[in-house]
Amino acid sequence: LEIRSGAVGVGKGMPMGFIIIAPGINTEAWCRHLLAADPGLDLRVWPDSGDPATVSFALVWQAPPGELQRYPHLRCIASLGAGADHILSDPQLPAGVPVTRVVHDSLSRGMSEYVLATVLSQCRHLWRFQQDQRRARWRRRLPMETAKTCIGIMGLGQLGADAARRLGQHGFPVVGWSRTPKKIEGVAAYAGDNQLRPFLARSQVLVCMLPLTPATRDILNAAAFAALPRGAYLINVARGEHLVEDDLFEALTDDQLSGACLDVFREEPLPESHPFWHHPRITVTPHVASITHPGLVAPQIVANYRRVQNGKPPRNQVDRQRGY
Ligand code: NAP
Ligand code: GLV
Repeated sequence: LEIRSGAVGVGKGMPMGFIIIAPGINTEAWCRHLLAADPGLDLRVWPDSGDPATVSFALVWQAPPGELQRYPHLRCIASLGAGADHILSDPQLPAGVPVTRVVHDSLSRGMSEYVLATVLSQCRHLWRFQQDQRRARWRRRLPMETAKTCIGIMGLGQLGADAARRLGQHGFPVVGWSRTPKKIEGVAAYAGDNQLRPFLARSQVLVCMLPLTPATRDILNAAAFAALPRGAYLINVARGEHLVEDDLFEALTDDQLSGACLDVFREEPLPESHPFWHHPRITVTPHVASITHPGLVAPQIVANYRRVQNGKPPRNQVDRQRGY
């Protein structure tokens, strides 16, 4: 794999450099697919940035805070995934540079499959049967009825709306909650802070698919759990910072929640000593609910690189003010 790090374009006065800043991520597949989409790309991989003044496009996942302000001619900062919270949280994020994220059917489909699998596993008590098996305990547990199990989806965006539709098609009653009102066939849609409690009151399984913003941080807390029907099940596939961990432990101890499936955590990887690992009613998965496949999304990243090189606004921008 050849990764060029020259200062292409400097002579013409137009920086052309494309840098991947994704500490801890194996970038080989990204490099391969980006170069397949544009063999002429002046590609660098952090920390081998070359001259920062020759870089115009940054593809980023959890860049070190302050790193992006080292590049004076950035025209676009692209998240390597669907969320851009890891970019917007940088206190030194360069002002005025568009921030984009990945939007792709494969991400919605992957997330919907994870959520559907988890909801079905809960309704058919699969994790409880696994525990029973370890103790050679024959105990019949009747399925939760699909048509009587209401699924509440927090966030009706690219991912949430798709999951809501697919769960509805599967026969589950579905309620959804978003910031602005939505119309989705088969989904009872609630919007805004005033409608959060009535939404929660119907959610026997609560799925968090919100972006992490100041308004949504810590939203999965004691008050929210208390507003759910007794024995509700929680699925958090959004960000670890949505969840107040102590409140979850308490709600499980009180049987207000029957269990939780968590894919995202305040600290990732989840430390070995974390009590989530061994809690009998918590399922842990290692941030895999929906995975960005470089081969599928490299073309849209390169298309945005070309757009900004041609003075056009990039697609899939996040609203920096709104936070998502
Ligand atoms: P999106 O398209 O931006 O949708 C966000 C949804 O959340 C929108 O419906 C929005 O409401 C709603 N929302 C935002 N702030 C709100 C608030 N204060 N109150 C109520 N609703 C609010 O985002 P997405 O592509 O669906 O992705 C959602 C998140 O999933 C990402 O940000 C990321 O953190 C997470 N994610 C996780 C994984 C994983 O593997 N675990 C993978 C991909 C993404 P409006 O529609 O009214 O604006
Ligand atoms: C994953 O968490 C993403 O935001 O794509």
